[in-house]
Amino acid sequence: MSEHIFIGVAWPYANGSLHLGQIAGAYLPADIFARYHRLKGSKVLMVSGSDQHGTPITLRAEQENRPPQEIVAEHHQGFLDCWQKLGISWDLFTTTGTANHTQVAHDVFLSLLDKGYIYKDAVPQAYCPSCQRFLADRYIEGTCPHCHSPQARGDQCDECGRTLNPSDLLDLRCRICSASPRFEVSEHFFFRLSGFEDRLKAWIKEQTHWRQNVRNFSLGILEGGLRDRAITRDIEWGVAVPQSGFELKRIYVWFEAVIGYLSASKEWATSQGDASAWQPFWGNEAKGFYFIGKDNIPFHTLIWPAMLMGYGGLDLPYDVPANEFLTIEGKKLSTSRNWAVWLPDYLERYDPDPLRYLLSINMPETADTDFSWREFLRRNNDELVATYGNLVHRVLTFIQRNFAGVVPARGELDSQSQELLHRAETALDSVDGLLHGCHFREAIRTAMSLAQEANRYLDDKAPWKRIKHESQASATAISVVLSVLSVLKTILYPFLPFSSQKLHSYLGFDGKVEAVGWKLQSPLSGQKLPAPQPLFQKLDESIVAEESSRLGSGGS
Ligand code: MF3
Ligand code: ZN
Repeated sequence: MSEHIFIGVAWPYANGSLHLGQIAGAYLPADIFARYHRLKGSKVLMVSGSDQHGTPITLRAEQENRPPQEIVAEHHQGFLDCWQKLGISWDLFTTTGTANHTQVAHDVFLSLLDKGYIYKDAVPQAYCPSCQRFLADRYIEGTCPHCHSPQARGDQCDECGRTLNPSDLLDLRCRICSASPRFEVSEHFFFRLSGFEDRLKAWIKEQTHWRQNVRNFSLGILEGGLRDRAITRDIEWGVAVPQSGFELKRIYVWFEAVIGYLSASKEWATSQGDASAWQPFWGNEAKGFYFIGKDNIPFHTLIWPAMLMGYGGLDLPYDVPANEFLTIEGKKLSTSRNWAVWLPDYLERYDPDPLRYLLSINMPETADTDFSWREFLRRNNDELVATYGNLVHRVLTFIQRNFAGVVPARGELDSQSQELLHRAETALDSVDGLLHGCHFREAIRTAMSLAQEANRYLDDKAPWKRIKHESQASATAISVVLSVLSVLKTILYPFLPFSSQKLHSYLGFDGKVEAVGWKLQSPLSGQKLPAPQPLFQKLDESIVAEESSRLGSGGS
């Protein structure tokens, strides 16, 4: 029976362009995983969307003096364009601005309210006397009560990663004018997170298959105890609160954004013409994976699961393979200082697969990793072009020249040939196991070492020397390598979908790689092959200086 795999990916704020940190952190691993599972024959539903609400959007709207709606529409379009060019294969990438999302968020809110997991309370809210308004969490800065970082925000401390309430901060400041806010009483709804502590603890202790850092971090927060959280705000931009008397307030962005996983699943089902098609992805036989960066861990391992526990009847996450951070040229990525590589810029200048390759082989799975243009150049030229691309090109052009472009018949296999074919079969199995467990780095390294072995085999067999006097031996070696190439196009497909699809057609196959499944599809002898083009382009040394100079400057 085929498995149902739900893949939820962090919803990017629609307030700026995407950068490589987000791609390495969440979108690329999610896409690799989705493509792998589709190849395996699983039923996959991969969703996310633009996060339209919250202070990141209103801050930007104020800076640019434009309505928030305009900002989010523009960036949503930019995201869609990037996904298409980078090959991020969503089943649905929607937004939190849809009527469907509001409806599903209201359903969850009212159901939790009905069950007593949401309650109303009058609470002091930070109010800035000089700006004359209530301050959203992110407009408040202060010192973290846990790690004493001076730069903590009202919702979270980036230094130690803990989630906060504004009143937890020491030395409060308004982020706009630096005045000290005072607290004024206002009525709000609270989510009874404290009531889920024991269930969350028991549940997370069982999740021994989670990444160590994700599990330990979540348990650490639980050790400190969970407090109820305000889930409405005194703001205008956001999802309405479905209660009278709350017309001037909105649901807190994080509370409704995580509900996006459910609302997007429902929207997808409706668009398929079967409004209940989402259910198998949220039921017993399904597994839900949430791909996020490490700064989003508490929302996905504690708050969203608690909301699901309270709501009832839906699957909790099966895994939350959060990644660590990507640094850029050895320094912490900073969007405000333009110390970032912007995805639209990258995609304007280069092909998608070299970036997918580099970010996969250096994925920040268990520790931060670094992106540098020199490394990008090296990985592209020495590995994609010289190892993999060259292997493919040597074999395919040899067939055009010496076998009239037709796959030659295989003779008897010597032990070296048998061994290489055996290695290819083993690679198929081990990459399968690694991807199944979300070990992306190790998976692509294993795949690439098969390409290296095939190169060594080809050098040993030197079919170009034998073609005159031992043409059968030459044909056999070529045929063996063709089978290895076919394994490579399969196991590299989740990482390098564009070049795998090309190689698939150069090997004489029709249709899509995904339709074949996770198996060795041997090229048929007698099959005529099309004339190949190189899979990858060598890049010039000069791009290193050129690209590095864009970093930290006024932008591109
Ligand atoms: N918009 C948030 C961010 O970029 C992530 C939201 S993830 C969600 O950090 F699940 F809450 F949507
Ligand atoms: Zn802190």
